[in-house]
Amino acid sequence: MYDFSADPGLSKAERYRELESAARALTDGEPDPVANMANLAALLWEFLPDLNWAGFYRMVEGELVLGPFMGRPACIRIPLGRGVCGTAAQSGETQLVEEVHAFPGHIACDAASRSELVVPVVREGEVVAVIDLDSPSPARFDREDAAGIERLAQVVANRI
Ligand code: SME
Repeated sequence: MYDFSADPGLSKAERYRELESAARALTDGEPDPVANMANLAALLWEFLPDLNWAGFYRMVEGELVLGPFMGRPACIRIPLGRGVCGTAAQSGETQLVEEVHAFPGHIACDAASRSELVVPVVREGEVVAVIDLDSPSPARFDREDAAGIERLAQVVANRI
């Protein structure tokens, strides 16, 4: 049995360090990208409070296609440049959205979502996926969350 769980008393910085080390341990030596993305989605869900969606969209033939996630069923295909995920994938830049209703073209998969963090996963200079986190709370994510997920994206880029 795996026992990767976050102590509720951890600071945000400690939480991201523990998440990163759990992610390394759980994906180490495992070449299957679906298995790794599935476990990483579960770890994000376990370690980060106040989420209603956590998972992956993968770049497949020039568009984003839904990957492993935790949360409600979501839209399957997102063209580059559309919504928060498509913007992150096209620009290669993290999107930190405090209020999704104010983001032009936001794609509402779960009406409960209020804020969102999307981080591109880059391998050999190419965006191969994005990590998408949604929260029912406005302004749930800050620069520290963005930096934590950006580090995670670097760690897992060769494992997904
Ligand atoms: N809201 C995202 C779509 C994906 S769902 O949040 C899971 C967007 O605008 O790209």
